[in-house]
Amino acid sequence: MIITIDGPAGSGKSTVAQTLAKRLGYRYIDTGAFYRAFTLKAMRVGVNMKDEALLKQLLQETKIELRNSEGGTRVFLDGKDVSEAIRTPEVTGNIHYIASRPALRERLVEQQRMASEGVSAVAEGRDTGTVVFPSAERKFYLDAGVEERARRRYLELLETTKGITYQDVLEELKKRDERDTSREASPLKMGDDFIYFDTTDLAPEEVVEVLLKKI
Ligand code: C5P
Repeated sequence: MIITIDGPAGSGKSTVAQTLAKRLGYRYIDTGAFYRAFTLKAMRVGVNMKDEALLKQLLQETKIELRNSEGGTRVFLDGKDVSEAIRTPEVTGNIHYIASRPALRERLVEQQRMASEGVSAVAEGRDTGTVVFPSAERKFYLDAGVEERARRRYLELLETTKGITYQDVLEELKKRDERDTSREASPLKMGDDFIYFDTTDLAPEEVVEVLLKKI
């Protein structure tokens, strides 16, 4: 059984997907972590983000894994835990170089599918119901107003990022929404077989309960 949850940043999909996976005893697959981890690798190696050939080669030599731990799922890049390092604004600002390239996406999607082999899973991202798992049994699309999404993201980032302002987060979110929905390669969009939820006025626990009923 595969359940997919797509939607923009701050729609609550990560929290909801993690909780659902836990409640159902399914594996949690954070597809954004794959884009984040490879972006971090390219930044660390110092590859020119516009050099697609080199990025492709680098991706061949890159291993990204999600491992379960007591505190939740951890992200490993070439065997090292990068769960926190992939969430910085610098990484977020560079992801579009990777996420906009079909050849890179193809390879990352393969790794995401491999992560769900032989198990039931809850996958979340931008294209999990449309591209990664088109035959998933249940497909959800979570959304919320941009200001509420920025508020959620801001509160999250406050804990880790010095000097961050709400205005910065709002601007970054709008830019990312625009890039994620307008790119040619697997844009964020809702398929006909998706169930839509607006989470603006709902707490994550409430969303989880509604989704569980649908499942
Ligand atoms: O979900 P998260 O905010 O971690 O995703 C970071 C970025 O990775 C997104 O803004 C998007 O550009 C890219 N992404 C994607 N396809 C996915 C998941 C994430 O293009 N399935």
